[in-house]
Amino acid sequence: MKGIILAGGTGSRLSPCTNVTNKHLLPVFNKPMIYYPLYSLKEAGITNALIVSGKGHAGDFLELLGSGAQFGMKLSYEVQEEAGGIAQALGLAENFAGNEKVVVILGDNIFEDNISDAVKDFALQPEGAKVFLKEVKKPQSYGVAELNDGVIKSIIEKPENPRSNLAVTGIYMYDSLVFDITKNLAPSHRNELEITDVNNYYLKQGTLTHEIFDGFWGDCGESFESLHEASTLVKNSHLSTMPNDLSIIYRKQSGLKSENEKHTRVGLHSL
Ligand code: DAU
Repeated sequence: MKGIILAGGTGSRLSPCTNVTNKHLLPVFNKPMIYYPLYSLKEAGITNALIVSGKGHAGDFLELLGSGAQFGMKLSYEVQEEAGGIAQALGLAENFAGNEKVVVILGDNIFEDNISDAVKDFALQPEGAKVFLKEVKKPQSYGVAELNDGVIKSIIEKPENPRSNLAVTGIYMYDSLVFDITKNLAPSHRNELEITDVNNYYLKQGTLTHEIFDGFWGDCGESFESLHEASTLVKNSHLSTMPNDLSIIYRKQSGLKSENEKHTRVGLHSL
């Protein structure tokens, strides 16, 4: 399986810091933001990864991360010319992915949980996608999943009246069909290709599984407050001791409330 980190967008909400570097390189506690999604991939055994960045300060990624050799990883780069949405950025990874399944992480998302077991489960999933949910206080800011009897019924992007407090976080696992899906999406009202539309496509096909995160989830690119909050969460977790070369220091128990088996049965019954 290959990894993709999406680090496009303009980062205007974190100006003036983003006037001189890319948002995903700003510090979260004692590391650049992008180290955390890289660590999540590496911890799950995924060492071949593509970073999709925006044009602004794209060279800073190369300067900081290089070939990835310092982390025992192989890193490639792609540039998203305009911030056309998460699904559009993902579409740029088609050649990199080839026919392999992919684990996609938003470059401003930080996860305490170890996703190794979920990656293994998804490798065995015959087809489709997997999303990861987390209970939040303000679901209006996210894609929100409505569950019925443990099965996802709907995912709505930033709903005014959320039907649950379960946000869809920024880790997604997809089979290679995802690149056909992204090609056929229509732009949303905010003129972006939405990742929620991709997930809803799989949902309709009955091939979307999910898991619920137990540990903290930091969506830190939203504001200086969220950046600060993420720094505090990291400082108080095992991630605070992550070495500069991203060598794996501590394998936290997965902590995921795995409902995967059930969903593989229910959601993929027609396979
Ligand atoms: O953080 C999780 C949420 O991320 C999900 O719950 C939502 O369903 C999903 O739409 C997304 O919400 P946001 O609207 O908050 O995403 P945002 O525009 O902040 O982008 C998040 C990251 O995605 C950003 O750090 C870099 C990447 N991105 C985003 C855009 C718009 C790109 O690579 N290219 C883009 O064009």
